[in-house]
Amino acid sequence: MIYLNGKFMPIEEARIPVLDRGFIFGDGVYEVIPVYSRKPFRLAEHLQRLQHSLDGIRLSNPHSDSEWSSLLEQLIDANDSEDQSLYLHVTRGVAKRDHAFPKGVAPTVFIMSNPLLTPPEELLATGVAAITATDNRWLRCDIKAISLLPNVLLRQMAIDSGAMEAVLLRDGFMTEGAASNIFIVKNETLLAPPKNHLMLPGITYDVVLELAATYKIRHEVRAVSEYEVLTADEILLTSSTREIMPITRLDGKPVGNGKPGVIFEVLYSLYQEYKLTVMRGGKAELKAED
Ligand code: PDD
Repeated sequence: MIYLNGKFMPIEEARIPVLDRGFIFGDGVYEVIPVYSRKPFRLAEHLQRLQHSLDGIRLSNPHSDSEWSSLLEQLIDANDSEDQSLYLHVTRGVAKRDHAFPKGVAPTVFIMSNPLLTPPEELLATGVAAITATDNRWLRCDIKAISLLPNVLLRQMAIDSGAMEAVLLRDGFMTEGAASNIFIVKNETLLAPPKNHLMLPGITYDVVLELAATYKIRHEVRAVSEYEVLTADEILLTSSTREIMPITRLDGKPVGNGKPGVIFEVLYSLYQEYKLTVMRGGKAELKAED
């Protein structure tokens, strides 16, 4: 079952008019929210980022947080999997094609759920390959926009080179991945680029930094240079669906010793433990004094 503009229905029955501005202009924003044991993970944070994206494209939020929460809950119930990946999407609605905003048009709201397929153990044990690529996206990558053409092309460039992700570099510094945030480890310190308009403020990124602070893993939030990426001891990617994964090859060369590193192992198990605590209704806050 999916949700579209007020109704729940099978996805085969869902129809969008061709003049939807999402279809015509990519004029909309989205969220991907992981659900573990039927509980949305970090929902408040995802809804807050949705608001930031909507504000960024000057579209008013069609729902309050409690309405979103109830819609998501109904959709989770209507789907079979215990662990799901919710995709939530709001566009500026249907109107005659004209770049300027239409007046008095209702936004299109679409939510679907898919089974959440976290990375298999074999991949976590070997790590994945990535390539570096020039970040040629716009200057508002903090908005989770549905217009993802550069991300699509960058990700495909990675796939065509037998890799899974593109690590993006802009003006000599790392921004993020084509569909993930990227951390590196250098001299036993976890390095994360600071959130700004050049990257998506990842929810998993926040969890990783909170875990690092809580469990006293040495870390710094600062600009990470291309040289540091190319000579990193470890590289990690994070996203809501892929959680934390080790990148063990970059541009065809091994990262560090070519195996998942110690910081990855520690963060991965802390992340799994934290997930379980939250699912069992335990304390969700992790924020510790730095
Ligand atoms: N993408 N950066 C980009 C460009 C992303 O597309 C994503 C996630 C992230 C990670 O953010 P988070 O930890 O909040 O998922 C960073 C989602 C999963 C997607 O487009 O499918």
